[in-house]
Amino acid sequence: MTENKRSVRWAVLGTGRICETFVPDIQLVEPDSVVSVWGRRAEVVNDFAARHAISHASSDLDDVLSRDDVDAVYVATPTATHAELAIRALEAGKHVLVEKPIAFTAAEAQAIFAQAESHDRFVMEAMWMKFNPLHVEVVRLIADGLIGEPRFVRAAFGMPFPAGGSRWNAELGGSTVLDQGIYPVTLADWVLGPARGVTATGRILDGVDVSAHITLEHDSGRFSHSVCSLMEFTDPSASLSGTAGWIEIPAMFWATDSARLHAGSTGALFGTPDQLSRPREGNGYVPMIRSVVTAITNGLRQHPQHDAAATVRVAQTLDRIREQVHAQDVQEGRRPT
Ligand SMILES: NC(=O)c1ccc[n+]([C@@H]2O[C@H](COP(=O)([O-])OP(=O)(O)OC[C@H]3O[C@@H](n4cnc5c(N)ncnc54)[C@H](OP(=O)(O)O)[C@@H]3O)[C@@H](O)[C@H]2O)c1
Repeated sequence: MTENKRSVRWAVLGTGRICETFVPDIQLVEPDSVVSVWGRRAEVVNDFAARHAISHASSDLDDVLSRDDVDAVYVATPTATHAELAIRALEAGKHVLVEKPIAFTAAEAQAIFAQAESHDRFVMEAMWMKFNPLHVEVVRLIADGLIGEPRFVRAAFGMPFPAGGSRWNAELGGSTVLDQGIYPVTLADWVLGPARGVTATGRILDGVDVSAHITLEHDSGRFSHSVCSLMEFTDPSASLSGTAGWIEIPAMFWATDSARLHAGSTGALFGTPDQLSRPREGNGYVPMIRSVVTAITNGLRQHPQHDAAATVRVAQTLDRIREQVHAQDVQEGRRPT
């Protein structure tokens, strides 16, 4: 890919928690490139625009999507709304970056990619972990054979999230499998390949899966264990093991800038591991945003680092996990306060 030659101008759909940290990173990649923002409440969206120096704000979606000065749209609303908003943006001729999970189900994810293809526009799920320099280097070292044949991935993302908000709302797509579990399952898919067998158990509260313990069987007898929870801490670290060693990614594994390499020498295996670190840029989203801007500028319609096939494959695994967890319908008694 060549370097970016012209600006991609963004509209942001949503003004919630993630937008507060994501929008400054878009502006870091290209100053003043966020030109419009949409939210349902005028006073909230106007306040957000003023604080982030965005020149246009509206509570009318068509008003934002019909603008000629918007090339790409970042969708950062609750999960249940992703597919509808992404498809409306594609129909308006915009490129689209959708927060994780790209949609509530794999079928919705496929519908988004089909619309992107028919409108000849770029679309990607904002799976920033796959662009984080630390993770990119870890996966490169594994491909180069540092830990031998990768055989096992263990990863967990659980913490007691405060009550309230879309996370705890079944109608808005609340689900720890979709919200947190997507990170360990994506890491396992990235390192071990597609999941063939799925075994999952968990807890449900008010229709929302609030914890899940997942075993995936990948090709050639490789396994991953993933844990996710909205209820309690579950040591949010990861380890990637193989026939010649292992790599520890400490908490918070999906966002960290360092790892420990227990491989490559007897000392590193049985004594002190080698350290790997890669500095974080901005709030951590900068490498992905920069790479997406370059991809759009170069006329790509999918990103090779996180394409439709990988996105839909993980979404299908998440569907199967949720199906098993919800089939048990074990009600959790209380939520964190
Ligand atoms: N990449 C990451 O690190 C990361 C971190 C956190 C979250 N996320 C993802 O980002 C997305 C948003 O999460 P968040 O934590 O920012 O959510 P949030 O704080 O609940 O914000 C949701 C936003 O969506 C708007 N909205 C539009 N339609 C809505 C509807 N029908 N119901 C409720 N709100 C609606 C809300 O504003 P109005 O009510 O004013 O319209 C609000 O601005 C989720 O998909 C989540 O998984 C990603």
